[in-house]
Amino acid sequence: MTAASRRRILSGMQATGRLHLGNYLGALQNWVRLQDEYDSFFFVADWHALTTAYENPSDIPAATREILIDFLAAGLDPGRCTIFVQSRILEHAELHLLFSMFTPTPWLERVPSYKEKQETLTDRDLTTYGFLGYPLLQAADILIYKADAVPVGIDQLPHLELTREVARRFNHLYRSVFPEPEALLTAYPKVPGLDGRKMSKSYDNAIYLSETVEEMGAKIKVMVTDPARKRRNDPGDPNVCPAFGLHLIFTGEDDRAMIEKECRRAGIGCVDCKKILIQGVERGVAALVERRRSLAARWSDVEEAVRAGTDRARGVARETMVEVREAMGLA
Ligand code: TRP
Ligand code: SF4
Repeated sequence: MTAASRRRILSGMQATGRLHLGNYLGALQNWVRLQDEYDSFFFVADWHALTTAYENPSDIPAATREILIDFLAAGLDPGRCTIFVQSRILEHAELHLLFSMFTPTPWLERVPSYKEKQETLTDRDLTTYGFLGYPLLQAADILIYKADAVPVGIDQLPHLELTREVARRFNHLYRSVFPEPEALLTAYPKVPGLDGRKMSKSYDNAIYLSETVEEMGAKIKVMVTDPARKRRNDPGDPNVCPAFGLHLIFTGEDDRAMIEKECRRAGIGCVDCKKILIQGVERGVAALVERRRSLAARWSDVEEAVRAGTDRARGVARETMVEVREAMGLA
């Protein structure tokens, strides 16, 4: 199918840090599967990172580079999808500004992530204009490419809802320019972090794609298990064991069935159980870790591919902005 006849998707990853196994299993792997079925745009949202890291912006460029390497190492192919960096396409900022003219502030204040992040990221002042506008910038990211669908997790649904409201309001106030994008939700396994909570950079419980398999193994060795299983002879319960949560993703069915049975009657100890897990994780990420290593060594190739992607994306964004300016009387 040609790009013109395929439906378009777009998704982005905030440049707030390196990507971890949760990002890979929850999002990236899914994008890789979608890249041939859709005309696909994937980007690093470095301006979005700035909404919360404006006091310490110096880490954003390195995070952006690492994420681009993660994209390619995971299997996004610049020959089959469009990969770009948000801040290289100034048109996103223009559209964000124009959207801000007609977006009521209560629409932004009621987006759940607004209050949630203000409450959790207490080490910084998020009573800023840019942070309030986070979802509006996201709406500009999506609508400037007239994406039909956006592959995201459920946490992003309120942002998608706002995006549709903004599209509707624009189309109603001026003229019909934007399609209303739908969310493309995919079921994915819950990825437990080392402490048993959801794997997340902010919990400091993550296994990063940029780590060696040895580093990953060392982390798994100290990962939380069934907290009630204090001694080797105590029986355990895989259902409450975070390490078993990773077995569900990385370990073959036979081993998994054995572990479930033996754990419950103290037939296997956590040390041996984790050895099997470490092998599974190693098998699961070996190709990615190897690709990552080789891509990091030829950064200029990555840069070149992203430059081409950014040029293509900019072309699309510019076409949309011609229509937008015309519709708003700015032509
Ligand atoms: N807010 C998204 C996240 O935290 C990142 C993002 C920015 C995004 N712009 C986007 C996702 C556009 C999808 C589409 O994951
Ligand atoms: Fe978890 Fe395995 Fe230990 Fe059971 S044996 S508690 S599944 S690590």
